Amino acid sequence: MDNYRDDIKDHISRARDLRALLTEYQRAYYVTGRPIVSDLEYDRLFDELSHLEAEHPELRTPDSPTQRVGSDLSSDFPEVEHTIPVLSLDKAYSDEEILAWIGKTTRNTGENLSFVLEEKLDGFSIVLYYERGLLSRAVTRGNGFVGNDVTANVKTIKAVPLRLTEPVDIAVRGEVFLRKSEFERINATLVEPYANPRNLAAGTIRRNKSSETAQVPLSIYVYEGFWSEDVPYTDHIQILGRLRDLGFPVDPNLSYFCRTADEAAARLGKAGLPGKAGSFEDIPQAISDRTGTRSALPYEIDGLVVKVNELSTREELGYTGHHPRWAIAYKFEAPQAETQVLDIDVQVGRTGRITPMARVRETQLSGSTIRNITLHNQDYVNELELAIGDTVAISKRGDVIPAVETVIEKNSSGNTTWQMPESCPVCRTTLVKRGAHHFCPNYDCPAQVKGRVAFFCAKGQMDIEGLGPKTVEILYDNGFVKSVRDLYTFDYNLLAGLKGFGSESRKIDGIKMAIEQSRRTPFRNVLVSLGIPEFGRKAVDLVCDAGYDSMDKLLAVADADDIESLSSINGIGPVTAQLIVDGLKSEETRRLIDDLRKAGLQMQDKKQEGPVYEQIFEGQSWCVTGTFVNFNPRSKAMDEIKRRGGVEVSGVSKKTSCLLAGSGAGSKLDKARAFGVRIVDEDEFMRMLASSMPVGENVEASSVKEEGPEQPELF
Ligand code: IVH
Repeated sequence: MDNYRDDIKDHISRARDLRALLTEYQRAYYVTGRPIVSDLEYDRLFDELSHLEAEHPELRTPDSPTQRVGSDLSSDFPEVEHTIPVLSLDKAYSDEEILAWIGKTTRNTGENLSFVLEEKLDGFSIVLYYERGLLSRAVTRGNGFVGNDVTANVKTIKAVPLRLTEPVDIAVRGEVFLRKSEFERINATLVEPYANPRNLAAGTIRRNKSSETAQVPLSIYVYEGFWSEDVPYTDHIQILGRLRDLGFPVDPNLSYFCRTADEAAARLGKAGLPGKAGSFEDIPQAISDRTGTRSALPYEIDGLVVKVNELSTREELGYTGHHPRWAIAYKFEAPQAETQVLDIDVQVGRTGRITPMARVRETQLSGSTIRNITLHNQDYVNELELAIGDTVAISKRGDVIPAVETVIEKNSSGNTTWQMPESCPVCRTTLVKRGAHHFCPNYDCPAQVKGRVAFFCAKGQMDIEGLGPKTVEILYDNGFVKSVRDLYTFDYNLLAGLKGFGSESRKIDGIKMAIEQSRRTPFRNVLVSLGIPEFGRKAVDLVCDAGYDSMDKLLAVADADDIESLSSINGIGPVTAQLIVDGLKSEETRRLIDDLRKAGLQMQDKKQEGPVYEQIFEGQSWCVTGTFVNFNPRSKAMDEIKRRGGVEVSGVSKKTSCLLAGSGAGSKLDKARAFGVRIVDEDEFMRMLASSMPVGENVEASSVKEEGPEQPELF
């Protein structure tokens, strides 16, 4: 028994030691930037603690470094009230404005003050609450009074201390951010990349699974501290120094200015802070230096913040409704416009995807009038914490699509973050969520049908003139056209006299002619018009160029679930290949294809005009490797294969029919041997080609094989 007790005692003290060591090592790594042990040693101790805790769960404390790995439990971010006021900063957009603000503040408060110049990190604002030194809660800014509890996710951020060096009760404000290098590395692997590190950081903090948050190496710098008792300090740099001692990372690039540079350096040193010191005269230069070195920083900043250092002067200056009067942000880029969100409603797309749209107070933005702005999906709205009535900064990304950048001022009507309705506003079907988006699952939802028909008729697809979205809506609402198929069977003469068509038949004749012409619209357009996700013009071209140049060939690939063949086409990844196959297999697409076939649309790619070859490679997939005497570049060999009905694959798999191997063929040759794929050398290939020379001169390839029935008489 005593032995057992001794064991337990040993475990308890070992676990305590390990926690302390690991915490100290983490702090050295993340806070001071100077690691004191090797990664290997750190991992070894970490594993030891994990094992100990797994065997004796009672030893696991909430601040254990092992608690950062995250769990797969879904957390849905309950709302919690802030116990400190979470204000935002007033802004200025030029250094003159900033200098004027500094001058005014100095005059209004007497000379006895100093200023701190901080970087304005472009990340995600967070408030960390500690009780007796333990991280109890991490809460988003929200509307300043109520935010979302994202503790589980924030705990995965290695630079956030779970336990402070002293058992204090404090709240700390900071910015969670992602270094540029990490952003680029991670973004390159994402199917839907983020526009910037801020969006990726914000998205990561709002993941449902903290184990996913843990995959992204987020960082944090803290910039304000709030003590629950009377603040034991008299100025900001003291507070920052104290926060650093407690275990928080503080931005190392701050500057501090008072009457003389020497005095500033002495005070900064006393506070134990890194950074530059200067006199008031140095401020303009410091601002321009910081602005100039911005792009060289390893993380993104969107401005600078000037803060009054003395807490007593801060108190004297006080606050407006939303901002402290003792600080101001210098934003590098002026938002292009400011407006108010009057309403948020949703649009139902042709795929059933629900897109929230902000209806904003009409405003001018780089030459166009903005009334509607897409909000993409609920996650996007959550990231912005956007509510109806909020005042927002809007910009035009890439100078095309207007976007809401940030909320400048919350609404005063108490509206909270906008929420997606539960059912489709058009057909009332309950919405479902797939990935980041909500969908109306009703294929016959009127909004989806109209969207599909309009998409089919639009430019880039069948380009049927006269059948724009408005006309399609009229045709649908009158019960004339309820599917793409109806476009080819409807008697357009019935439109005569209908509102918008008048008695004159010119418009109607135009539509009839356009419909007729669409039967000759190239096969590639027909493929795009099917509206299969990820099977747009670019993918269609790649697939057709690789030899999958008829509906029958494509349907055969889909029926065989032959993802591999499609994904071996250069430029088509496995995800796209899967989506194409799924799309082509779906019952709805099959019905549509049948209808289009019956209507006499093109079902085969028209080859370049030229001689017609015997299709000796029909149904075969060929891979070409090495160099050739007669085919230079080797794509010429591939052209010969495609002319004879073969398709191109870029890699060898078990399903590959033949490998054409020139000299210097390497790993593909080995693979072909291993898989038992037929290997053809240049000589044999030449013989094959010779046996399949043109069957007639200058005959169009499409006439070899007639597709589809006779064209039906419609009008
Ligand atoms: S101080 C009461 N300092 O900018 C003062 N804010 O609108 C509160 N930010 O929401 C802010 N870097 O997310 C402060 N060094 C910094 C900052 C900073 C970034 C963000 C913060 C805040 C917004 C101000």
